Amino acid sequence: MTTTDMTGHTIVVTGAGSGIGRATTQLLASRGAHVVVADIAESAHETVELVTGAGGEATAVVADISDEQAAADLIALAAERGDRLGLVNNAGIMDAFAGAAHVDTAQWDRILRVNLTAPMYLIRAAIPVMLERGGGAIVNVGSSASLRGGAAGAAYTSSKHGLIGLTLNTAYTYGKQSIRCNAACPGGVETNIMSGTDMSAMNPEHGLAAITPVHQSAIRNAKPEELAQVIAFLASDAASDVNGAVIPVDAGWSAG
Ligand SMILES: NC(=O)c1ccc[n+]([C@@H]2O[C@H](COP(=O)([O-])OP(=O)(O)OC[C@H]3O[C@@H](n4cnc5c(N)ncnc54)[C@H](O)[C@@H]3O)[C@@H](O)[C@H]2O)c1
Repeated sequence: MTTTDMTGHTIVVTGAGSGIGRATTQLLASRGAHVVVADIAESAHETVELVTGAGGEATAVVADISDEQAAADLIALAAERGDRLGLVNNAGIMDAFAGAAHVDTAQWDRILRVNLTAPMYLIRAAIPVMLERGGGAIVNVGSSASLRGGAAGAAYTSSKHGLIGLTLNTAYTYGKQSIRCNAACPGGVETNIMSGTDMSAMNPEHGLAAITPVHQSAIRNAKPEELAQVIAFLASDAASDVNGAVIPVDAGWSAG
C-alpha cells in the first residue's frame, strides 16, 4: 500500500518536454510507471527517448493543453491503457512581472489558460476515470507565487494562487472517493521557464523590479530532480494519507 513503486500506473505529466516535467517523468518511469509525456514542444519526443533509453516506458503527445479538446484527448489516450491513472499538472508559463496597472490582456488570458484553465480541463477529464478505477493521484505544480505576492507579476501570481484553490477544492470534493490532489510549490529552479520571457522589455516601473537580487540573497536555485522527488512522492501510494497539501519546495524562500 505505502509504496513509491509505480508499476501499473499510467501518469500524464504535462510540460514534460523540459525542466521539472522531464525530471519527474524520468523518476516516475524509473519506478515502473508508463508516463504520457505531454508538451506543446517537440521536445516531448526527446524525453521519451531518454526514458526508453534507460529501460522505461513512455509515450509522447505534442499538444497545447490549454485547448479543451486536446486536454480531453490526452486523458482519453492515457486511460486507454487501463492502468491506474495519475496526473501531474506541471506545464506552466511565466509573465513579465507586470503589476495590475500594466497587465497586457492577451498575456493575462494566455497565462490563466495555460496555468489554471488547462489543469481544470485535465482534472475534469481524469476524475471520472479515476473514480471508475477506485481512485487516483493528482499533483499540481504551483510556485512560490502561489503563496506570496512578491514572486512574479499579477498574471502569474493570480494563476498560481488559483491553482491552489483548484487543488484544495478537488482534494476536499473527491477525497472520500480516494482521489488525492496536492500541490508542490517550487521556488527558483534551474529550467528553461524564463526563456520565453523578454526580460529586455521588462520595465521596473510597471511592476516588480527584477526579483533576482532578492532571490539570490535569500535562496539557492534547485535542480529539477529535487522537485521531481516531491512530485513523484505525492503521485505515489506512499502519500496515501496526503490530500490537500500545499508544499513549498523552495529551500526556505517562502519561509521568509
Ligand atoms: N523554474 C522555476 O524557477 C519555477 C518556479 C516556480 C514554479 N515553476 C513551475 O514549474 C512548472 C514547470 O516549469 P519549468 O520550470 O520546468 O519550466 P520549463 O519551461 O523548463 O518547462 C515547462 C514546459 O511546459 C511546456 N508548456 C508550456 N505551455 C504549454 C502548453 N500550453 N501545453 C503543453 N505544454 C506547455 C513548455 O513547452 C515546457 O516544455 C511550471 O508550472 C512553472 O510555473 C517553475
